[in-house]
Amino acid sequence: MIQVLAVASEIVPLIKTGGLADVAGALPPAIAAAGAKTTTMVPGYPAVMQALTGAVAVHTFADLFGGPARVVRGNAGSLDIIALDAPHLFARAGNPYLGADGREWADNGIRFAGLGAAAAAIAAGLVPGMEFDILHAHDWQAAMAVVYLHFHDGPRPGSVLTVHNLAFQGRYPASLFPRLGLPDTAFALNGLEYHGDVGFLKGGLSFAGRITTVSPTYAREIAGIDNGMGLDGLLRHRAGVVSGILNGIDDTLWNPATDSLIPAQYGRGRTGKRPVNKAALQQRMGLEPNPDALLIGVVSRLTSQKGLDLLVDQIDSMVAAGMQLAVLGAGDPDLEQAFLAAAEWHLGSVGCIVGYDEPVAHLMQAGSDALLVPSRFEPCGLTQLYALRYGAIPVVSRVGGLSDSVIDANEAALVAGVATGIQFWPATADGLGTALHRLRTLWQDRPVWDRVQRNGMAADVSWRGSASRYVALYRSLLADRS
Ligand code: ADP
Ligand code: GLC
Repeated sequence: MIQVLAVASEIVPLIKTGGLADVAGALPPAIAAAGAKTTTMVPGYPAVMQALTGAVAVHTFADLFGGPARVVRGNAGSLDIIALDAPHLFARAGNPYLGADGREWADNGIRFAGLGAAAAAIAAGLVPGMEFDILHAHDWQAAMAVVYLHFHDGPRPGSVLTVHNLAFQGRYPASLFPRLGLPDTAFALNGLEYHGDVGFLKGGLSFAGRITTVSPTYAREIAGIDNGMGLDGLLRHRAGVVSGILNGIDDTLWNPATDSLIPAQYGRGRTGKRPVNKAALQQRMGLEPNPDALLIGVVSRLTSQKGLDLLVDQIDSMVAAGMQLAVLGAGDPDLEQAFLAAAEWHLGSVGCIVGYDEPVAHLMQAGSDALLVPSRFEPCGLTQLYALRYGAIPVVSRVGGLSDSVIDANEAALVAGVATGIQFWPATADGLGTALHRLRTLWQDRPVWDRVQRNGMAADVSWRGSASRYVALYRSLLADRS
């Protein structure tokens, strides 16, 4: 069995702000079946320290970037966890990355450098009895683990860096560098230096043995200037070690046949009870209890990435066409206000819950007729995968993982009987308007609609294929090194 130390800044079921947590929690059991055993290292936020079971301290740092820290081993359900209990870095209420004012914690650079330094030391064998073949870091918050490992003396495991979102890079002024405890040579063009600043993701991408991202299409997109967010040159330079592996879903949490967060369970070929969930969603969202209205759901962070400003422009015409819209989201205050105002203006046709609500997120998948994801870019996207599984027809822009996971209901796909949703491009208000028109036409042809829904529910959105790809990647990295 390959021993993996994964490092992530959030993980289901301990703490979640987005899809990274879903993936960090789902990957370990998925790859266990394919031959790799994972222990996941996470920051010891209050939510983590409270929920950890069987916690045992296995190491103490007298001073980790300004305070003492304990390495605590424990469990969360079936997951093996190492929590970095460093109160000066992580014992703060609320969001892992943001203070109550909605701005990044001023010391995020030190917080996640601390996580990376400790993770690299553990990966390299700091704690007796815990040996690892692979360090697998997720996103910029864990990328420094790869950098510290690179500069570690002595034997060390191979490193993999998975990019879940290139838009977040962990970039700090050069004045941070002397505090990181790295050799001067680390602050170089082929290292941490990034346009005169310190770039955490940049450093990780420079040194990782393998780089992955969460869909094959996003892997191609980020090698180009339009989507490379300034790192495309480096990604092209490292093209030989970059690959895209599509995310899957955790069937134990996202399965309409067993989901305890929805009022009526159902499955493929047994969707008879699905309308019970639609009625419950209409009630929860303040929508008219009309089973025939085409109900479109959105479950999303409200940020420019997700393209939901395009939807705001479409609301009047959607309502005029008899559609209903239910939005669950939080983020950009202007967008939150826009959807709340639309819900007031179009009482009974538009519903909006601002905030983060896991049970409503499940009800949205089980009760919406269609789920909209109009992203400008999308590394993978999980909500469209959940939608497929739950029989909500996904309407998605043709980018990143959205284009890899939804088969557009064009004429050829309909004739071949393989369509699972609707894709549109460009990601503009007009592009979205056309997609919504196509959706309504499909809704009016129920046998075809039902067929597309059935195809979606039968699509393989599991981790199976991708889990073996990760393990094959680990093996190829180990083979390179031997
Ligand atoms: P991203 O990670 O970019 O936000 P993903 O589609 O990969 O996008 O993952 C989003 C995850 O967060 C999904 O599990 C989705 O259900 C969840 N989510 C997003 N917004 C909310 C919300 N307001 N309430 C509950 N869950 C949410
Ligand atoms: C990021 C991306 C999203 C992806 C998720 C999990 O948050 O924005 O597309 O699904 O990570 O990999």
